[in-house]
Amino acid sequence: MSTTTQVDPRKRLDGVLPDVEIAVVAPLIEEIEELKRQRNAVVLAHNYMTPDIYHGVADLRGDSLALARMAADTSADIIVMAGVHFMAETAKIVNEAKTVLIPDLEAGCSLAESITAADIRLLRERYPGVPVVTYVNTSAEVKAESDICCTSSNATRVVESLGTGRVIFLPDQYLGRWVASQTDVDVILWEGSCIVHERFTGEELRGYRTHNPGIQIIAHPECPPDVLAEADFVGSTSGMIDWVKRERPRQVVMVTECSMSDNVASEVPETDFVRPCNLCPYMKRITLEGIRDSLRDMKHEVLVDPAVAERARVAVERMLEVKA
Ligand code: 13P
Ligand code: SF4
Repeated sequence: MSTTTQVDPRKRLDGVLPDVEIAVVAPLIEEIEELKRQRNAVVLAHNYMTPDIYHGVADLRGDSLALARMAADTSADIIVMAGVHFMAETAKIVNEAKTVLIPDLEAGCSLAESITAADIRLLRERYPGVPVVTYVNTSAEVKAESDICCTSSNATRVVESLGTGRVIFLPDQYLGRWVASQTDVDVILWEGSCIVHERFTGEELRGYRTHNPGIQIIAHPECPPDVLAEADFVGSTSGMIDWVKRERPRQVVMVTECSMSDNVASEVPETDFVRPCNLCPYMKRITLEGIRDSLRDMKHEVLVDPAVAERARVAVERMLEVKA
């Protein structure tokens, strides 16, 4: 988890954006800061936000697991989720008393769209007694049908925590295959995938190695197996950021959504980032203007049916109890 500490937006963005861009966004950031103070609100930002959001207005930043923990722990009255809809829903599930806002209702996720609660009920009929592990990139209704949730940073630990020989793992087939490669537990897969990570290929990465001898390749586990086979490190978005800050490689390619490199590059100036640019169209729905409007007009409030939230909370909290 990381937090913004300096209040002056010009200082926060120094070295992150060119001066001309800072001059354009600074008034908007000041407006957002004032609204946050008036409303006792926090902005939780996923690592894929653009640098103006990530460095400019985020109070707390992190991967899906960190965002869920932060949402559970915050004392603010209002949480603005600078991320996608399932992250906002998860925040509401773990902290029902708070008002959770998402700046754009179109900020979805291809994985969340790939499975419904009815699909899980059918799978349970087909595999009676086999526990269902559900990636947090899903709707609240899907979480409510699950035994436990997981994120990319704890998926293998969560699967093994159940102590069964077999699990149903939903909905990301590639994360599921990655988990299967890391454990003896038999993993039954679903055919969901992330439209950003499925586009990378092993061949593309071999090309980076050929043209940049010594380059380090670090990848998100939503990538296909031939991509992960080329990686020097596989981890969640925060896992990847921590790896770069720890290892300080001379040259690196982060095989994930491309704002990540933009966000980290200013913090690791000695590292050269090779940047394939696969953007998540859902994450990119979130803008500074959208965050300002969200706080100003109190939109769009994310609500979860209390009965669904209660069941989903069991699966999410069970995950949060799994030791790091
Ligand atoms: P992380 O939990 O690793 O941040 O991943 C979330 C996500 O949506 C990746 O595409
Ligand atoms: Fe979903 Fe992929 Fe976008 Fe993450 S990057 S929010 S998994 S579509």
